[in-house]
Amino acid sequence: MKIVIVGAAGTLGQAVAAELGARHDIVKAGRSSGDVTVDITSADSIRAMYAKVGRFDALVSAAGSVHFGPMDKMNAAEYGIGLADKLMGQVNLVLLGRDTIADGGSFTLTSGILTDDPIRYGTSASMVNGGLEAFARAAAIELPRGLRINVVSPTMLEESIESYGPYFRGYQPVSAARAALGYAKSVEGAQTGQVYRIWG
Ligand SMILES: NC(=O)c1ccc[n+]([C@@H]2O[C@H](COP(=O)([O-])OP(=O)(O)OC[C@H]3O[C@@H](n4cnc5c(N)ncnc54)[C@H](OP(=O)(O)O)[C@@H]3O)[C@@H](O)[C@H]2O)c1
Repeated sequence: MKIVIVGAAGTLGQAVAAELGARHDIVKAGRSSGDVTVDITSADSIRAMYAKVGRFDALVSAAGSVHFGPMDKMNAAEYGIGLADKLMGQVNLVLLGRDTIADGGSFTLTSGILTDDPIRYGTSASMVNGGLEAFARAAAIELPRGLRINVVSPTMLEESIESYGPYFRGYQPVSAARAALGYAKSVEGAQTGQVYRIWG
């Protein structure tokens, strides 16, 4: 399969590229590096990426930013960061990729454990992750041509403990390689409308 991985240079994306790259042709995409560059906050940039990539069999997104901060200080603009980037950025990868993806192809997006298991300062992440999961469940029943869509929800990665550990006390981390198996299940399996929770 020809698989586009957005965020392929990231902590999670590298592991996904290693897992899927063992069996498939990978097109690495990122904001500043990769075979093709893309900014998922820009529809024009996503269109340009798909025009360059051409027909593909699967799209994996391991990208997307949100603003973390105390809810009593968060304003609408700060919530808007996650809505434009992690939520609509990934949704637009689906909307703008629909015409280029091959019959029977798949989209796999990334949410995270905060949908279901919130932490302090994580209201935007929880909101965005929940939106992504609801979108995928609903989109799955409308996608044409045998197209599939799933979401992977990793917990904190072992590789990110140094940055995120203080905010996730009591959470069992998983390796990025373990989380990458969720993407393999989505891309290489047959299910659709699923959320794969990789929580240890
Ligand atoms: N790390 C964790 O513990 C963890 C746990 C659960 C869920 N997640 C989720 O997994 C995803 C990836 O996390 P990560 O820790 O791997 O992040 P990361 O190490 O910061 O990597 C993010 C990757 O995405 C690319 N990227 C960022 N913004 C982009 C944009 N607007 N357009 C296109 N590419 C963009 C980056 O490219 P450049 O380097 O070129 O900027 C980078 O390759 C995020 O959605 C995160 O919320 C992470």
